[in-house]
Amino acid sequence: MMTLARVTGELDALLDRRRIADYSNNGLQIEGRPEVRRIAFAVDAGLETIQRARQASADLLVVHHGLFWNQPLMITGTHRQRVAACIENGISLYAAHLPLDVHPRFGNNPGILEDAGFSVSGRFAEERGLAVGFMGTCEGGRTLEEIQAGLEASLGCRPFRILGTTEPEKRYYTAGAITGSGLRYAEEASALGADIYLSGEGSHAAYHQVIECGIVCLLYGHYLSETVGLRRLMAHLVKEWNIECVFLDVPTGF
Ligand SMILES: [Fe+2]
Repeated sequence: MMTLARVTGELDALLDRRRIADYSNNGLQIEGRPEVRRIAFAVDAGLETIQRARQASADLLVVHHGLFWNQPLMITGTHRQRVAACIENGISLYAAHLPLDVHPRFGNNPGILEDAGFSVSGRFAEERGLAVGFMGTCEGGRTLEEIQAGLEASLGCRPFRILGTTEPEKRYYTAGAITGSGLRYAEEASALGADIYLSGEGSHAAYHQVIECGIVCLLYGHYLSETVGLRRLMAHLVKEWNIECVFLDVPTGF
């Protein structure tokens, strides 16, 4: 058991929360019970997830997408229900958005690259002074099948969409990655030498851009691609903090 103050302070330090500019209000968003015996991890702070955290007897819910995003929000409607579900059940909510995308060990972006068999070699896609994208290289290259097999072992599935012209024999040497809705940066990754790009979801607007720059894109869904960092962080806390942790899988299909 740890105090909430200690858990929050250690997570802030571990994830370098204060130094990373973000449009998510990262850190402790809702204060629940003062002691933490069990931590639940989930991608989104939806009502179903909060109810699952209660059923799992979690004292703290750590999410990638929290409830507060740099703008005043009335406590009404679904937002009220979510906030109330946390407070009424004494569940604290901690959000880590960009800190959990870019962390060298627990980040979604370096994580998905490593799971695909690439070693991090650089950064790209600067937003508010922070390069959110990660580049990776692989000596000898990897075939599309090898890349997909690596990610199937980590994410449990094949990409739901592949964009670009694929060649089964071709070896890919440089990969770019931005999980979630990072497809719009595929052209920048291509210009920096990436021949394959890993992301979550795309958009109609990005389609032609991607096809025209010649890069192959593997899309695993916004949700699934952003489970990578949470699972890495959870494994670290189980080992280093010796605290009970549970992952709440609430997929959205997007
Ligand atoms: Fe996201």
